[in-house]
Amino acid sequence: MAVIKYLGHSAFEIRLQGLDGKPKNILIDPWLTNPMSPLKPSDYYGRKIDYIFVTHDHGDHLGEAIDIAKATGAKIVAIFEIALYAREKGAEAIDGNIGGRLKIDDLFAVLVPANHSSSRGAPTGVVVGGRDIVVYHAGDTGLVSEMSLIGELYKPDIALLPIGGHYTMGIEEAAKAVELIKPKIAIPMHYNTFPPIKADPEEFKRLVESKGIAKVAILRPGEELEYSRE
Ligand code: NI
Ligand code: MN
Repeated sequence: MAVIKYLGHSAFEIRLQGLDGKPKNILIDPWLTNPMSPLKPSDYYGRKIDYIFVTHDHGDHLGEAIDIAKATGAKIVAIFEIALYAREKGAEAIDGNIGGRLKIDDLFAVLVPANHSSSRGAPTGVVVGGRDIVVYHAGDTGLVSEMSLIGELYKPDIALLPIGGHYTMGIEEAAKAVELIKPKIAIPMHYNTFPPIKADPEEFKRLVESKGIAKVAILRPGEELEYSRE
């Protein structure tokens, strides 16, 4: 069984069985000073975190990744330029790039295209998984046709998709993304943190579920979804 915990905005904690069968704790885009987050960065300081994935270096995604990595010994996994920056700041990092399965022994991980901007390197999405689950975190992105390839190749069980509009996909685009990716469950993110990205996740849920392509799980910040494949 895997657990996905929403920490507000685009921040998630994922606990899963690695490819080696051992428990792995992962953070993605840990901006934990976001106004919705139930946890502070320091809440992770005494805990085992194995990897921290960063989709791009905008402040609402890089967040406190470097501080948490340094305090926990977690490795930051990100595109080359962000990994270099993290190392300059004293964190351990695995530098990758778009489209190749990363050679991490205990985890399945691929950085995938995102159509957005970034100061260091290119923005990415992240596909990450272990024995029993594959999760696709789209990062900040508009709708991209590569999502159908991500769906076909990596068969994500769960897709974490921005729905807030303005800087990323909105509800209609994200619903189309679900059609391309075909996950079992879609979880909306990147909405209602600040006024330009106000969106109603219930509307996203109605739209996706009316098409019968996937379930939508709306997680409140702090809420966890347990997932196991049938
Ligand atoms: Ni961004
Ligand atoms: Mn963002």
